[in-house]
Amino acid sequence: MTQLVALRRSRAAGNADRQRSEAEGVAGALVGRGAPGRTVYIETYGCQMNIGDTELMAGVLADAGYARVDDPGRADVILVNTCAIREHAENRVLGRLGQLQRYRDRHADLLIGVTGCMAQRLGEALLQGAYGVDLVAGPDAYRSIGWMVDGMRRGAVEKGQALLALDADEDYGGLRAIRGEGVSAWVTVQRGCDHRCTFCIVPYVRGPEKNRAFSEVVGEVEEAVAAGYSEVTLLGQTVNSYRSGDGDFADLLHAVARVPGLRRVRFTSPHPNDVTERLLETMASEPAVCPQLHLPVQSGSDRILKRMVRRYTRRDFLEKVDLARRIVPDIALSTDIIVGFSGEMEADFEATLSLLAAVRFDDAYLYKYSRRGGTPATRLPAADDVPAAVAQTRLERTIELQRGIQLSVNRAEVGAVREVLTERIARSAGDLLGRTARNKVVAFRGPADWIGTYRRVRLTATSGATFTGAVA
Ligand code: 5AD
Repeated sequence: MTQLVALRRSRAAGNADRQRSEAEGVAGALVGRGAPGRTVYIETYGCQMNIGDTELMAGVLADAGYARVDDPGRADVILVNTCAIREHAENRVLGRLGQLQRYRDRHADLLIGVTGCMAQRLGEALLQGAYGVDLVAGPDAYRSIGWMVDGMRRGAVEKGQALLALDADEDYGGLRAIRGEGVSAWVTVQRGCDHRCTFCIVPYVRGPEKNRAFSEVVGEVEEAVAAGYSEVTLLGQTVNSYRSGDGDFADLLHAVARVPGLRRVRFTSPHPNDVTERLLETMASEPAVCPQLHLPVQSGSDRILKRMVRRYTRRDFLEKVDLARRIVPDIALSTDIIVGFSGEMEADFEATLSLLAAVRFDDAYLYKYSRRGGTPATRLPAADDVPAAVAQTRLERTIELQRGIQLSVNRAEVGAVREVLTERIARSAGDLLGRTARNKVVAFRGPADWIGTYRRVRLTATSGATFTGAVA
């Protein structure tokens, strides 16, 4: 794997230019004479940015004449937009690729492509294996996906292409997202990552940090509002390290919060080190900014934080939590935890539990460490690996602890009346699902035409993770 990464890197620069000029040239030749049958089905795995990327690809493909459908059985092109963060995420996609092959029986010309982070990580291996993949495209290749797909379907481009150049200049400028269903719009403000947390594959599959221009972000938010969205979520791998000629993330958040007609803005995923007093003050003073902050801590042990190269200590982190709660008193906090990282001893793990107990996060995403080829952590001594069974037990203990904390945190909110943005119909008959500003999910009774509107809802009970409520 290390080899794959190195190969990709050495080819990256030249390839990017070639990809770009080919994109322009071939796109010019192909526009208006598309392949027969032009529908695309896109399935998305992984983080919110992947949802945003899928919407961008939908836009690029629409420009190439491809309409998005929600049934793979009706599609001429199937794309699977993937995640590489843990082995489990990749295994799910490999299984899914196997299942999707059956659509070839009914559609001899069906094209199946893999896009996103796993495509970038595995690259040509996905074409060579028995995976049944015709096209592989990494996160910087979406601009090319329209002409590439259409060219392949017309026979003008050979099948079996891998678009893997990481392009430091690709800022996705001028691309137009076609947003999916939903009442909240995703707006990517930054891509890539300059941190080198030793467990994480992201810098290698998404490349270095790239920030969009301030005016472009604000412009996209204005467009989203004009299109009827009243809530946006700003996205970036370390979104709060955003910086451009016109300001830093606090400035950007301030500008977005002031877009007329926007009622709610959230952002994810911040790095604790870049949560500044100014950012928190902006959150406190701008009514549109939701009092919600994701603060991924990963571990409560200084020894492990050091091995992870997180660049903060347990104490720094706890001080950040205090600062956030002092400046934004009603803030809802969530986190990410990795258990079973290389070298994690029982005492380190206990430190993670005690941190969870001390902070009492509203929500926590809990993971078992997954070794990712090409990351610095793979060079730590194998003797330090935590046995799988131990990691599993630690995960279960963490889940149990956090469940109890979440239940008690949420019980304390029962009885309150909250403004809820109605998002969709719930699985339980007659119910709608919505979200409070503090990101709590509430099921309540109401007609479907409330979707997209705000309702005052009394929280009547909680299951632990979610609430039931009644319109107040
Ligand atoms: N193994 C397990 N979890 C990981 N994450 C990132 N890389 C890994 C890995 N190799 C988790 C971190 C991060 C979240 C998005 O995914 O907790 O914050």
